[in-house]
Amino acid sequence: MRPEQQQRTFPDGFLWGTATSAHQVEGQNTNNQWWAWEQQGRVYQGDSSGDACGWWRDVAGDLDRAAALGQNAHRMSLEWSRIEPVEGQFDAVALARYRAILEHMHQRGITPMLTLHHFTNPLWLEAQGGWLHPATPQRFARYTEQVIAALGDCCQLWCTINEPSIYAGLSYAAGWWPPGRRQPRLALLVAGNMLRGHAAAATVIHRAGSQHQVGLVHNLHIYEPATLLPQDILTARLFDYTNNQAILNALTTGRLSPVFGLGQRTVPGLRDATDFFGLNYYTRSHVRFFSRSPTWILGHEFTPTDVEQSDMGADGKTYGEIYPAGLYQALERIYQQTGLPIYITETGLPDDDDDQRPRFLLRHLSAVHRALQRGIDVRGVFIWSLLDNFEWAHGWHLRFGLYAFDERTGERRLRPSGALYAIIARANALPALTRETGGF
Ligand code: FCB
Repeated sequence: MRPEQQQRTFPDGFLWGTATSAHQVEGQNTNNQWWAWEQQGRVYQGDSSGDACGWWRDVAGDLDRAAALGQNAHRMSLEWSRIEPVEGQFDAVALARYRAILEHMHQRGITPMLTLHHFTNPLWLEAQGGWLHPATPQRFARYTEQVIAALGDCCQLWCTINEPSIYAGLSYAAGWWPPGRRQPRLALLVAGNMLRGHAAAATVIHRAGSQHQVGLVHNLHIYEPATLLPQDILTARLFDYTNNQAILNALTTGRLSPVFGLGQRTVPGLRDATDFFGLNYYTRSHVRFFSRSPTWILGHEFTPTDVEQSDMGADGKTYGEIYPAGLYQALERIYQQTGLPIYITETGLPDDDDDQRPRFLLRHLSAVHRALQRGIDVRGVFIWSLLDNFEWAHGWHLRFGLYAFDERTGERRLRPSGALYAIIARANALPALTRETGGF
């Protein structure tokens, strides 16, 4: 058989999963800053998370669906505001509920990966200044201690914080997320403090035993200079440095670059905090030196009109290019720089009619396979998401699910891409190369 006619297999034990986060699926998370923001009508068309996908009430059906699709892993997050509703008071009932969810997963052969912070803060923490407050990393470590004591025997894969650069950038520079600030300097302080939180939580988790693996989840966005003009190239590099590279440097050196603000640069525990790299990869944007409407310092980001875009680009404010080569580039770069095992903790696209997602999956998973062939240590993939859920500032308007979910009726419907992902997960292999998917 010619090589291009062969199935492309993945290593034994490769994790095939989907990812969710607490606020986006649980429902009635009334005690965090996002709920408050939603009540103020700050989300697109006044949407609110409401009952979301009802996971706090009942998760069994959706976990059955994940297992039926051959998924052997699921990444989800814990809601800090449920576990510590009042500062210093921990809710045993909430922890028991999470324990029951994890047991459901184990019963179905689903390996859990738990994220401790996925964008939401308890209201009491937000009132103190959230991740701008210098004591927040220690508060995060104290919450982590309680989580590990209660759930440490049910989970070994831990993500401390989801996407510091995105949380910080959208909440403190772009102003699209609570608390709606537009001061890039603050965003960098927040990201730096989150790296301190990562180190502090990792220290707690590692103390609980060597079976635990800790990762930070970083969104690596590709910044492409719009032209070969030196000013565009430099601006793209600046964007890349502040959003991507400064965090990579911090993880490998244990030190914070001055972009994260003044203060102690060597962060205790940071150098040894990270056992695996959690890569979230979605897209790239093009960067041009200063325009009249800068979205960030000195530059303007955009998506050229002649590229294939998901539903994401439809508002003209966000970037939706479908660019699978960027996933390969990100994997290679991270592995070269960190040498860490990598989980793709999120990749996916909003595509309501599912006319792009099947091909998206084949092309992005082809990129992963190629990375594995070149010796890059990728351990698993978590597609965002199992089912449509509450998509932050976009509310219910962007549909990322392998299952379509109707938030008015609660109905779930498998999309064709979900069936395709099941075939790949069960076979632990991609179908033979085709002209469509081979060159990703
Ligand atoms: C990522 C977030 C996740 C979801 C996807 C679409 O940045 O981590 O919660 O919103 O984007």
